[in-house]
Amino acid sequence: MDYDIAEREIKKMIASGKDPTFLQKIVDYLYENFERYSWVGIYIVKGNDLILGPWRGEHATEHTKIPIGTGICGSAAQSGKTELIPDVNKDNRYLACFVSTRSEIVAPIKRNKNVVGEIDIDSDMPNAFDKQGALFLEKIADMLSKHIC
Ligand code: SME
Repeated sequence: MDYDIAEREIKKMIASGKDPTFLQKIVDYLYENFERYSWVGIYIVKGNDLILGPWRGEHATEHTKIPIGTGICGSAAQSGKTELIPDVNKDNRYLACFVSTRSEIVAPIKRNKNVVGEIDIDSDMPNAFDKQGALFLEKIADMLSKHIC
């Protein structure tokens, strides 16, 4: 799937708004259109934790609540910077969810410079994410900024 096409489609999904399930639809869209995305989820910041919102993948994760500062997700929430992990087994912050996961990316969703949530994607492929992929997810995160509460 071409990133520009996906960006336009997701923009449309957000613009047609009002549908309370739109976050789930965006997660579904990403999961269904990018083969290398094995698990896609949105975490929402609540107090000092990340709470799992809509997700899509073969299995549920046990990490439905992650303290900010813990794991790859918690690190991205703390720094406000995208985490691009080519090999999860080489990163000692990594909180394992699925044995099949090889690489991961987390793009924070920010509003007024505060992290309000994040997009977390796991891949069963090693090194599945690159700078272009990161830029794409950062754009989606920006689009979601006003819609996370
Ligand atoms: N691996 C993440 C935890 C979330 S699962 O990937 C769904 C982490 O290290 O924070």
